[in-house]
Amino acid sequence: MSKSERPQDMSRRQFLTTVGKVGGSLAVFSLMGTMGLLSPETMKAQSYTPPGQNDLSLTGRKGKKIIILGAGIAGLTAAYELEKAGYDCTVLEAKPFAGGRNFTVRRGTSLAEIGSKAQFAQFDPDSYLNAGPMRIPQFHSTLEYCREFNIPIEPFNNVNESGYYYNENVGSLSGQRIPKRAAKADVRGYVSEMLAKAVNQSALDLPLTSEEKQKLVDYLKREGDLNADLFYRGSSRGGYKEAPGGHLDAGVVRDPFDLKAIINSGFGNYFGNEYGYDQQMMMFHPVGGMDKIVQGFEKRLGNRVKLSAEVTEIRQSADGVRIRYKQKNKELELTGDYCICTIPLSVLRKIPADFSSKMASAIATTKYASAGKIGLQFKRRFWEEDEHLYGGSSLTNMDITQIYYPPTDYMSKKGVLLGYYVTGTNADKLGSMSYHEREKHALAQGAKIHPQYIKEFESSYSIDWKRVPFQEGAWATYSTEERAGIYKTLCEPDDRIYLAGDHISHIVAWQAGAIDSARSVVGHIHQRVMQA
Ligand code: FAD
Ligand code: ALA
Repeated sequence: MSKSERPQDMSRRQFLTTVGKVGGSLAVFSLMGTMGLLSPETMKAQSYTPPGQNDLSLTGRKGKKIIILGAGIAGLTAAYELEKAGYDCTVLEAKPFAGGRNFTVRRGTSLAEIGSKAQFAQFDPDSYLNAGPMRIPQFHSTLEYCREFNIPIEPFNNVNESGYYYNENVGSLSGQRIPKRAAKADVRGYVSEMLAKAVNQSALDLPLTSEEKQKLVDYLKREGDLNADLFYRGSSRGGYKEAPGGHLDAGVVRDPFDLKAIINSGFGNYFGNEYGYDQQMMMFHPVGGMDKIVQGFEKRLGNRVKLSAEVTEIRQSADGVRIRYKQKNKELELTGDYCICTIPLSVLRKIPADFSSKMASAIATTKYASAGKIGLQFKRRFWEEDEHLYGGSSLTNMDITQIYYPPTDYMSKKGVLLGYYVTGTNADKLGSMSYHEREKHALAQGAKIHPQYIKEFESSYSIDWKRVPFQEGAWATYSTEERAGIYKTLCEPDDRIYLAGDHISHIVAWQAGAIDSARSVVGHIHQRVMQA
């Protein structure tokens, strides 16, 4: 049995895990302090000393040095928390900027995708595209750092009934943009009508008394806004053909689509997008761009983060770790006690490293998803001015999949709209196009929903995450079998090397996954150091 598996440690760890589930990662950190697992520095976390006032030559508790590979959210979190606990950290980042997938595109941003020339963003000053993360659920640990770093946040309007559904080749509603509220009212209305009638006619074999069946019918009546005879004949919830106004102007409620049309439209298949645990309102984003979070970490880590430092070899022995990297055409080397590697596995699998064969095989076989986005700057916010549409999205079965309206700077003159956010085969299709072809495609398809696109367009910036150097993918994907197999291997320390990142979490494709995995590794390393 290894030291870290002694029974008292197991129960400690289980206890911390339970506390984490109930109280979140801050609760674990606080408890670790109480249990003597964190240094006094960590317990003084709230009175953090800014960079410049720290003596960087001082090594941490027991003089341990940790080398962190990658300055995405996971690497930055690990460095920040370890430094608070008194460790000596160095973060090596291949790109000339920190943040990884937390990448906000502004005027002047330039990046060459693999196999292409550089693309330059020409958005107006103050306009931006969150090319990676754009929204944060209210219960994610990501918001803890917004609080800690005093980063102002504002609502990310993930749900807006004024957005549209637009599908092609779906019967009589093909090629029509339909307000979400109309489609929702009709689908809910007809489905509730069918169920209510079936319950009333005892057509369903339900283990309910007649009184309970009546309660169910009452609920369905409200859910679908049904008439007293349990028929759905339209509802003001779906909107008006003539809006109500002052004096005697009661307005005219729209007529519902017929059942066949609405079922064939496939619109109902979109509703589930908004029900997902991590897509429910309220959602937030930092005012001014998601990279404000990165800047918060950078400000506090100072020169511990080395940029344009590409890791080329990862070595370990019984005594420590040895990392080789390239910086400004120089071959350099760093040694330390432990390594936290947050490099995406799509990239890591190509770097020579001393991993066990089991770990190397798990790294090599983990699959990565495709995803792409395009930001389109328009001369005026026609979605707000002409269509009273403030934030939220429109969804479509065209390649572009979805359009998001900017959830910030409402009523300002211009805006950058998310012209597509695609995954899977749509991402591969758009990603294989040149930047200019992507723009043309996004404009042509988007103009079917908003004809104003053609006249009002100014500039674009697109990204295909599979083609971004040092990323080569959007996020890891695991089947149930892989979670039970390779994923468990990835979660284990490979001697002195620990993996972290959203791929080492059950919150893949969220910054909270990167944060929680990093904090967990920090806890494990600290425990190991204390027990050595
Ligand atoms: P990364 O950010 O990938 O960091 C890894 C770092 O390693 C990178 O900086 C990379 O440059 C560096 N690196 C690679 N190779 C080397 C090398 N050889 N040497 C040194 N460094 C190297 N999350 C949310 O919370 N909300 C969202 O709305 C959301 N939407 C998303 C949408 C998209 C399109 C994508 C792609 C992601 C989205 N996410 C979202 C997920 C979020 O971006 C990630 O979970 C998080 O940023 C991952 O952080 P990380 O540190 O684990 O990895
Ligand atoms: N978490 C990512 C998003 O919300 C996938 O778009």
